[in-house]
Amino acid sequence: MNELYELTRKRRSVRRYGTAHIDDEVIHEIMKVALTAPTSFGHKPVEYVVVRDKDMIRKIGACKQMGGSQINGADAVIVVMVKTADKHQAEFWIEDGTIASAYILLAVEQYGLGACWVHIRNRMGQRGTSDQEIRSLLDVPDGYTVLNLVAIGEKAEEKRAYTDADLHTGNVHYEKY
Ligand SMILES: Cc1cc2nc3c(=O)[nH]c(=O)nc-3n(C[C@H](O)[C@H](O)[C@H](O)COP(=O)(O)O)c2cc1C
Repeated sequence: MNELYELTRKRRSVRRYGTAHIDDEVIHEIMKVALTAPTSFGHKPVEYVVVRDKDMIRKIGACKQMGGSQINGADAVIVVMVKTADKHQAEFWIEDGTIASAYILLAVEQYGLGACWVHIRNRMGQRGTSDQEIRSLLDVPDGYTVLNLVAIGEKAEEKRAYTDADLHTGNVHYEKY
């Protein structure tokens, strides 16, 4: 059995969350998975702020004008940021942050929890960019850029797992296009 496919087909974006509390230990295990993600040149430029405080989660949501409030019901929000000060690291910052976030989404599914990527790059907040406002809220030092959030919580909506029939198999070309 392709165990990884079993996991990836069940992972869906979950945007409604129940009230169950996720143990810190589970979040810790999920973050361990994120830290195994490959990064360009192995520089490991991706950093995270794990936010559990509900008031802070609401404030972070308010940093995204359109759709930020969708994180309000989450039990944890992972703020994914990448070191972009250094020109060399900056070249691959989106790729580095994205692959780590994908690892988080899969790890969350492994624990039977729900998660959703909430986009931050190039999004606007109340006064400035969402990135600037979130970094200011969380005291992030200069030199980092927030790529996205991953909202995590108990699943409060059922989403059908993907099946072979859903796959865009035509997107895969062999030997030549
Ligand atoms: C780069 C990227 C940005 C996304 N931004 C958001 C977002 O801001 N808000 C949201 O609810 N979902 C967001 N999503 C989730 C997608 O909407 C979702 O993955 C897509 O609709 C497919 O559904 P699935 O995740 O259930 O397979 C984003 C996903 C990606 C990969």
